Amino acid sequence: MIGDIAQILISEKEIAEKVAELGRKISSDYQGKNLLMISVLKGSVVFMADLMRAISIKARVDFMNVSSYGSAQKTSGVVKIVKDLDIPLEGYDVLIVEDILDSGLTLSYLKGILLERNPRSVRIATLLDKPERRRVDITPDYVCFSVPDEFVVGYGLDFDETYRNLPFIGVLKPEIYENT
Ligand code: IMP
Ligand code: MG
Repeated sequence: MIGDIAQILISEKEIAEKVAELGRKISSDYQGKNLLMISVLKGSVVFMADLMRAISIKARVDFMNVSSYGSAQKTSGVVKIVKDLDIPLEGYDVLIVEDILDSGLTLSYLKGILLERNPRSVRIATLLDKPERRRVDITPDYVCFSVPDEFVVGYGLDFDETYRNLPFIGVLKPEIYENT
């Protein structure tokens, strides 16, 4: 697996430091609030697992899985809920935990769905942000790293469902894409 990586973009140590810092910031911002962290499967599970342990206030966690309605509509960002939340959102300060904000289409649609459920607030925490790729007007409230417009894997992010278990964020060798 490691032989498929051309370059390490963000090391384990850099990730750990940033996640710890973000955990402290969220703990302070959500003091006295009713924090519910929602992880969007599967890309954000590694980030979620580390971030939740860096938070020192009471928090609940839940998971959602969404899938695009097929390639034609993928560009519209319309998503189907494959796994929904277990609880209603009234009274919660929702924090969506994402792996990467790219075009922003998925997250903007998802944020809309969650807002309709009348939570107290909805914010977005993303591990990575690719601002150059944005197609809708959505800004994350918390970002660990801004990355250039390159396809990255590891720390939860996949290429063809693999490489999620790499402990760092890396760039694949071009031949890996070319062979599929
Ligand atoms: P978007 O913001 O709606 O375009 O979709 C973002 C989703 O696309 C992320 O949650 C990832 O699953 C996937 N994605 C976008 N860029 C990358 C990347 O560089 N590596 C791996 N997955 C990516
Ligand atoms: Mg994802």
